[in-house]
Amino acid sequence: MIVLGIETSCDETAAAVVSSDRTIRAHKVLSQITEHREYGGVVPEIAARSHLEHLDRLIAATMDEAGLSFRALSGVAATSGPGLIGGVLVGVMTAKALAAVHDLPFLAINHLEGHALTVRLSDGVEFPYLLLLVSGGHCQLLAVDGVGRYQRYGGTVDDAAGEAFDKTAKLLDLGYPGGPALEAAARQGDATRFTLPRPMMGRPGCDFSFSGLKTAVRQALAGLEAPSEQDRRDLAASFQAAVADILEDRSRNALQRFREERGQPAPLVVAGGVAANEVLRQRLGQLANAEGTGLVAPPLRLCTDNAAMIAWAGLERLRLGDRAPLDFPARPRWPL
Ligand code: KG4
Ligand code: ZN
Repeated sequence: MIVLGIETSCDETAAAVVSSDRTIRAHKVLSQITEHREYGGVVPEIAARSHLEHLDRLIAATMDEAGLSFRALSGVAATSGPGLIGGVLVGVMTAKALAAVHDLPFLAINHLEGHALTVRLSDGVEFPYLLLLVSGGHCQLLAVDGVGRYQRYGGTVDDAAGEAFDKTAKLLDLGYPGGPALEAAARQGDATRFTLPRPMMGRPGCDFSFSGLKTAVRQALAGLEAPSEQDRRDLAASFQAAVADILEDRSRNALQRFREERGQPAPLVVAGGVAANEVLRQRLGQLANAEGTGLVAPPLRLCTDNAAMIAWAGLERLRLGDRAPLDFPARPRWPL
């Protein structure tokens, strides 16, 4: 089976072709970073127009790279939510049109499910596993028992982890997009210089909170007279260390809950854009080892938004006999 995947839910226009033997036959991501940079964040209207302008050609180039005609496909999958609705609509309508014209199944994919199943494409991980999903819009811990079978252990009560990175990077004037910029600055910073809070840490459960941490960074910054570049790097490093501590602590609770409830440990899987963070990957690896299991993290290009994960989720659904009707709606909100 071979599926074309389309991703347009935020600021990446992406298309990919993936086959059921876990081969990525083509993989293209067109980032809109330069279009949003001057606004310091993603502008939904600009994002939607840009997807509309580029998607058709990107799909043609992806099919070229795969060396396939549409006749060779088994289905067309598109992110159908959650996300910025203008962009989601562009991807969904395009996928539906291709499916209708070429008489192929249309697969409506939840973007979060795309992230959740990525390690099955990259590493062939078997169910069940424990998933820490950390992206710009989401921060959750879930037990993943199968396709469509997710048990939520906890989530953020305010900001998502990636959102906290982005807002803090903006506060520190580190550039856009915030997550990678903050990680780069933190590499040259002293993580022990500022004592920042770690909301929820040490408490039972698997919920997260990051807004107090962001506020603490703002206050620390305000307390500095003419902050230097090194001050900003130190603050970035201190912030990143606090986030890593929080994510590690909450993930430990989740791993322990899984083992208590099921009588066996689960592999820890991290997914979503923040999973690209090297410090976080290291910390979670150490945690998984200490808990008698292992960490699986997708390669960097499959952590941030991409269409290979959407094509793969489509394949998984197609294998189960699932397909979506052509009147399936684009959903701005769609919990897993
Ligand atoms: O999964 P993703 O590409 O899009 C969403 O579905 O939200 O995640 C994007 C988020 C952004 O908040 C971005 O700042 C964050 O992932 N991110 C990072 C890193 N790379 C991307 N955060 C921390 N460190 C990174 N290296
Ligand atoms: Zn995402």
